[in-house]
Amino acid sequence: MKQSNRFAGQVAVVTGGASGIGHEVAGQLAAEGARIVVWDRQQSDIGETRLLDITDAGDTARAAEEIMERHGRLDILVASAGITGPNATTWDYPVADWASVIQVNLLGMFHCCRAVVPPMLKGNYGRIVALASVAGKEGNPNAGAYSASKAGVIGLIKSLGKELATTGVRANCLAPAAVRTPLFAQMKQEHIDYMLSKIPMGRFGELDEISAMVCWMASPECSFTTGAVFDATGGRATF
Ligand SMILES: NC(=O)c1ccc[n+]([C@@H]2O[C@H](COP(=O)([O-])OP(=O)(O)OC[C@H]3O[C@@H](n4cnc5c(N)ncnc54)[C@H](O)[C@@H]3O)[C@@H](O)[C@H]2O)c1
Repeated sequence: MKQSNRFAGQVAVVTGGASGIGHEVAGQLAAEGARIVVWDRQQSDIGETRLLDITDAGDTARAAEEIMERHGRLDILVASAGITGPNATTWDYPVADWASVIQVNLLGMFHCCRAVVPPMLKGNYGRIVALASVAGKEGNPNAGAYSASKAGVIGLIKSLGKELATTGVRANCLAPAAVRTPLFAQMKQEHIDYMLSKIPMGRFGELDEISAMVCWMASPECSFTTGAVFDATGGRATF
C-alpha cells in the first residue's frame, strides 16, 4: 500500500467501509493520513464506525452533524455502500427487492450527499466520490433494479457537480466493472460469469486498482473535474 501524506489533517467518511471496495479505500485513505469515519450497517476494523443504515435520512444527517461536533470538518465522502439485489428478469423481479435496491443505492446516496455537502461548504472544500457501476451506463440483463439505481447515481452526481461547480467541492462517480468482493455472494454464478465475459481484459478488477482511482478522485489533485463518470472496466465501457 502506497504511503504518503496526501490526506493529512482531513476527515473522510466512507460509506460501506466495513467491506469490499469501501474497506480497501478506507485503508488507503488512512494510510495517507486521513481520519476515517465509516458509515455502515456493520462494524469496520478501520477508523471509527458509526453504525447506520443510509436509507434513514434523519440518522444519516445526524451522523454528519456528529462529525462536525467531534472533528470540526468533513473533507471527503466516498459513497460505497450498496447492494445488488437478486438476479431476475424485469418481469419476474420481486417488487420489494426492486424497491430496496433503489432505496439503498439511490436514495441512500442522496441522503449521504445531502448530509455532507453543508459541512463541506462551511470549509469551502470537499471531494465526493460515488461508486456507480458500468451497469448504470450499459444495463446488465437480470439486474434491472441495480442498473437503474446506478444510472440514477450517475444522474444525481452530474447534477450535484454542476450545483457545486463554483465552490471548492467536487463530486464525481466511478463506474467499475466487476471486482471480486463479498458483494458477489448476492449474485447468481451465471450473472458473475456474464459480467466477466463482457470485460475485454478477461479478468476482474482488483481492489487496489479501484482504490487508487477513488483516492485520486478524493484528493486535492482532482480539481478541474466535477460531475464526471470515471471508467474502471478493463475496456468494457465504450462511452
Ligand atoms: N464489487 C463489484 O463488482 C462492483 C462493481 C461496480 C460497482 N460496485 C459498487 O461498489 C460499491 C461497493 O461494493 P462492494 O463490492 O465493496 O460491496 P460489499 O458488499 O463488499 O460492501 C458493501 C458495504 O455496504 C454496506 N451497506 C449495504 N447497505 C447498506 C446500508 N443500507 N446502509 C449502510 N451500509 C450498507 C454493507 O454492510 C457492506 O459493508 C457498491 O455501491 C457497488 O454497487 C461494485
